Amino acid sequence: MKILIINGPNLNMLGKREENIYGKNTYEDLCKQLNEFSFENNIEIEFFQSAIEGEIVNKIHQFQNYDGLIINPAAFSHYSIAIYDALLIAKIPKIEVHISNVHNRDDFRKNLITAQAVDGIISGLGFKGYELALEYIIATNV
Ligand code: DQA
Repeated sequence: MKILIINGPNLNMLGKREENIYGKNTYEDLCKQLNEFSFENNIEIEFFQSAIEGEIVNKIHQFQNYDGLIINPAAFSHYSIAIYDALLIAKIPKIEVHISNVHNRDDFRKNLITAQAVDGIISGLGFKGYELALEYIIATNV
């Protein structure tokens, strides 16, 4: 089983951005944590991170190579119709993850566009949210 994990703009800056919201751990720490989780659960994962909307759209188009998709579109979550449309095409189990709780921050973060094209959303549980999304996809593929 192979699962794609897409992270959008500024998530490569984890550890250097708003520590009070996103914590001290870096994007590399996130990948390490999820690599350990995937090893323990005998699954394959692939990471993709980009600040470029079109690159994320093109990557989603490769959905047929994967058994599931986890996406944190970051700021694109709140306005990208292109990523929303691409997600509608991707007929595989798919979860949107947010590290922070987007419902108790700025009002504009409550507007979730891409989340409307996924199976479910996990928000506010930190890096653990990605592991829970992986668990959901593993359970769905059994
Ligand atoms: C985020 C929440 C978004 O509102 C923000 O633009 C991000 C990160 C999160 O993981 O909590 O960049 O997606």
